[in-house]
Amino acid sequence: MSTSRPWRAGAASFGDDMRDVTRWLERHREGAHTQRVWSECAPGDVLDALPTTVPTAPVSVTTALDDIDRWIVPGLVRWDAPGWFAWFPSNAQEHALLGDVLGAAMAQQGMLWISSPACTEVEIRMLEWLRQAMGLPDRFAEGGPGGGVIQDTASSAVLSCLVAARDRATDGLARDQGLHAAGPLTVYASDQTHSSVLKAASIAGIGRANVRAVQSTADGAMDVAALSDTIRADIESGCRPIFCCATVGSTASGAIDPVDTIATVCDDHSIWLHVDAAWAGTAALSARWRDVIIAGADLADSWCFNPHKWMGVNFDCSCLWVADRVPLIDAMSVTPEYLRNDPTDSGGVVDYRDWHVQLGRRFRALKLWMVLRCTGTQALADMVDHHVALASHLADEVNASTTWTLAAPVSLGLVCIRHVDGDDATQAGINAVNADGRFAVTHCKLHDQLVLRVAIGSLDVERSHIDALWGVLQG
Ligand SMILES: Cc1ncc(COP(=O)(O)O)c(C=O)c1O
Repeated sequence: MSTSRPWRAGAASFGDDMRDVTRWLERHREGAHTQRVWSECAPGDVLDALPTTVPTAPVSVTTALDDIDRWIVPGLVRWDAPGWFAWFPSNAQEHALLGDVLGAAMAQQGMLWISSPACTEVEIRMLEWLRQAMGLPDRFAEGGPGGGVIQDTASSAVLSCLVAARDRATDGLARDQGLHAAGPLTVYASDQTHSSVLKAASIAGIGRANVRAVQSTADGAMDVAALSDTIRADIESGCRPIFCCATVGSTASGAIDPVDTIATVCDDHSIWLHVDAAWAGTAALSARWRDVIIAGADLADSWCFNPHKWMGVNFDCSCLWVADRVPLIDAMSVTPEYLRNDPTDSGGVVDYRDWHVQLGRRFRALKLWMVLRCTGTQALADMVDHHVALASHLADEVNASTTWTLAAPVSLGLVCIRHVDGDDATQAGINAVNADGRFAVTHCKLHDQLVLRVAIGSLDVERSHIDALWGVLQG
């Protein structure tokens, strides 16, 4: 490699550097079993460790790795620890990592078909493989009027679908002239829905005040009669209902909305039905859970889940399927001269830039390619069943206990518990678990009571970890 191009200095030692990085990674990943899960850094500690001015002389990759150990590793949280029970899992399975490295090294920009036919067409096929593996309906199939796309997050997916729904309902008026021309539009989701729906409504110009938090029943699922009543009242007062988000696996307690009955209400009023299965969607890979997870999907306009949560695919990777891609493309497509090309003009190719907010896009489908080929769907289904079995083991312990009680029905790998003595005792349990060093848990509120969530989904979690967690909660 020419030394007259110093910016290519890394090319000469790339093989050796890769080996060093690989060794570093192997050691780092082993640390998931021994290091404290939560970082002990105080705010500013990482910043204080980092040089304040830009270095002028380059250092070797080994020096940079040493600096990572000294300055950065202390600020890492071990999301990959077997005792990770906080929020939802966000794993980085080895085959996914390899796919991501390969995709990054290929330096593709998949914004248009012509900018990377492989990036586009592998993605089309990976979404189709996943659709088949999860039993999602034909209306989302490759080659049909809809199809699948990888978004960065479930938040972006709901925003994209909401904008498509807005423009479909207003015949493009909101898109072209602004919302003042379209009148008040309303959006529906249960009071357990993820905050991304509110955020999407504000970004789409619909306004948070026009998102109706439909009340949920005691088990956290949307009350469909309340949905119907709310929609009727809105129509009578001159609003136009355009979008409903049903949740399969709510963030707090994993509650599952009755998607099929919600769908009939939406259908009566031509409301776009989006299903957010961000965490729970992975369970559709298991034959045991498939029917529960995909129920009603054949009536939905869009359906989304995050392989970057439970499926082991490292962040970011959120899969969205739409039954009809035309409204999405109508909403998102803007074609300046510099993006025009013959394949696009022919109408015979997919240009994924028209399926979401951003233009440029990475070759994320390679992560799925590696996981689906090298790990395989049966192993992923076994992982789901393993996690669910651990959740049910923990629930048995809780049910047999006189100090802790289930705060919600167990949902797949998520167990929500509270102390019988009330919030202070629950908080003390949360504090004890998080201070232990081996575990991480987070909380939510259900029925105004503090809840300790145990979201079981680490790649390496075993019954011994659940028993050790339970031991800490027993005091
Ligand atoms: C049900 C649900 N929807 C959406 C999201 C947001 O996911 P993302 O970070 O991919 O936007 C979450 C995050 O936990 C979630 O639990």
